[in-house]
Amino acid sequence: MATGGILIKGGKVVNEDCSTFSDVYIENGKIAEVGPDLQVPAGARVIDATGKLVIPGGIDTHTHMELAFMGTKAVDDFHIGTKAALAGGTTTILDFVIPQKGKSLLEAYERWRNTADPKVCCDYSLHVAVTWWSEQVGREMETLAKEKGVNSFKMFMAYKDVFMLADAELLAAFSRCREIGAIAQVHAENGDLIAEGAKKMLSMGITGPEGHELCRPEEVEAEATQRAVTIAHSVNCPLYVVHVMSKSAAKVVAAARRGGRVVFGEPIAAGLGTDGTHYWHKDWAHAAGFVMGPPLRPDPSTPGYLMDLLANDDLSVTGTDNCTFSVCQKALGKDDFTKIPNGVNGVEDRMSVIWEKGVHSGKMDENRFVAVTSSNAAKIFNFYPQKGRIAKGSDADVVVWDPRSTRTISARTHHQAVDYNIFEGMQCHGVPVLTVSRGAVAYERGLLSATPGHGRFIHRKPFSQFVYKRIEQREQVGKPSAVVREPYTGQVVSV
Ligand code: URP
Ligand code: ZN
Ligand code: ZN
Ligand code: ZN
Repeated sequence: MATGGILIKGGKVVNEDCSTFSDVYIENGKIAEVGPDLQVPAGARVIDATGKLVIPGGIDTHTHMELAFMGTKAVDDFHIGTKAALAGGTTTILDFVIPQKGKSLLEAYERWRNTADPKVCCDYSLHVAVTWWSEQVGREMETLAKEKGVNSFKMFMAYKDVFMLADAELLAAFSRCREIGAIAQVHAENGDLIAEGAKKMLSMGITGPEGHELCRPEEVEAEATQRAVTIAHSVNCPLYVVHVMSKSAAKVVAAARRGGRVVFGEPIAAGLGTDGTHYWHKDWAHAAGFVMGPPLRPDPSTPGYLMDLLANDDLSVTGTDNCTFSVCQKALGKDDFTKIPNGVNGVEDRMSVIWEKGVHSGKMDENRFVAVTSSNAAKIFNFYPQKGRIAKGSDADVVVWDPRSTRTISARTHHQAVDYNIFEGMQCHGVPVLTVSRGAVAYERGLLSATPGHGRFIHRKPFSQFVYKRIEQREQVGKPSAVVREPYTGQVVSV
C-alpha cells in the first residue's frame, strides 16, 4: 500500500455535525489539512472526489472474527474479515475476547492480540467478555482498563452454562465497570427461558430453524434488556445493549434513555436490513443461514422500526455481530436447531445497507449516517476524534462515498469467506469507491490492496467523557443522605 501524501479534492466532507465542500490532505497516516483549494507538496497523489462524499471510515462496533463457537470456528478470520470491512468502507472493527468460564481474562486478551495483530488489514480494538465472576476477574478487569486499552466489557444473559451470568454476577460486574470507568455491555436475552423454550420446541417436533425464534420470542429479549437497565442503574453504571433485535427490546432502550438513564442501543446491519421470516423458508440451508442470537424477528416491520429509532437517537450506533459460518458448518444443526452455530455476516455490507435503508429511504441525513456508522462509536468507546471525524490531526481513515452509485449484494462478489450472504440480491444506493486506512489507499473501485498487519490495535482509555460526565455528576448530586433529626425520646415498646 502506497503511503505518500494524498489529496482528496472537490468532495463534500461529511462529519456528524455538518457538511462542507473541502479538500482533505493526508500525510503520514493522519489528516494533515482540511479546507478549500488546498495547496499540497508536489508528488502528492490527487483523487478527484467531485460529486462524492468524503466521510470518516466506518467503525463496526461488534465482530467475532475466527471465533471458536458451538463446536466450530467462524470462517472470516482477522485477515479476510478486515479486508472485507475495507471493501465496504469500514476502517475499524471492535472484536470480542471471550474467555471460557473459569479462565483468565488477561490470558485470553493476550491470545486474541497475538491472533489478530499480524492479520488485521485495518485498525481494531477489543471488548472483553466477563463469562464468570470472582475477585480475580475484578482485578483483571482493572488491569485491562488501566494498562491494556480495554474500556468495555460484555456480559451474557444468555447461553446458559456456557457464557451466561446470574443476576448477582451481573451486579458485581456492572459495579466493577463503574469503579474502573468502563462501559458494561450486555447480550440481553433470558437464558433460562431460552433453555426451557428450546426443550419445548424439540418435544413438539420442531427441529428446524424456525424453532430458534419460537423458543426465544421478543419478550425474552425485552425482559432481559429491562433487567440489565435496572441492574446497571442500581450501581450508576453506563449500559450498552449489543445487537438490539426486536421492537420490544428497542422500546425498552428508548424508554430508559427518555427516562434519563445512560444507556446506548446497538442495532446491527442484519436487524436493519432483513428479518426473521427467512426462518420459515422451505430450504433448510437458506433458513439456517439467518440463525443468530437474539434472532431476527418475523414481524417484517421490525427493520424499519429499528431504523426509525436509530434515526431519532433512541438507538445510537451500528455494528454487525459478524460471526460467519458456512452452510456446512450451519449443518451441524440439521436435525436440531439448538446446534446450528449462531451468527451472520455484515462487516462488508453494513455501510451500504444503512445508507440504503436509512439515508436513501429518507429516514436520516448524511450527517446522522456518519454519527451512527462511525462518530458515536468513537465517542462512546473513547477514541474520538482520533477516529470518527474528518479533521486535522485525526487518523487518516477516510472513505470516498458515492451516494448515487448502486451495487447489488451477493456472495458471488463479496470478499468474505462465508459461502452465502443474508443480504443476497439487495440493491443498495451508496457505494464506497475508495477506502483509505491509516493514510494508505486500501481499496479502490473493486480492487483491494490491503495487507495483513497494516492495522494497529487502538488503546482506549477508561472514563470516556461522552459517557461518564453524566455518571460522575449524578454520583455527586444524587447521593442519598440521611435526614438530620432530633433523637426520638419517646417510649419504645418492650419485646
Ligand atoms: O449469534 C450470535 N450473536 N453469535 C455471536 C455471539 C454473540 O452472542 O454475540
Ligand atoms: Zn451476543
Ligand atoms: Zn429467505
Ligand atoms: Zn456478538
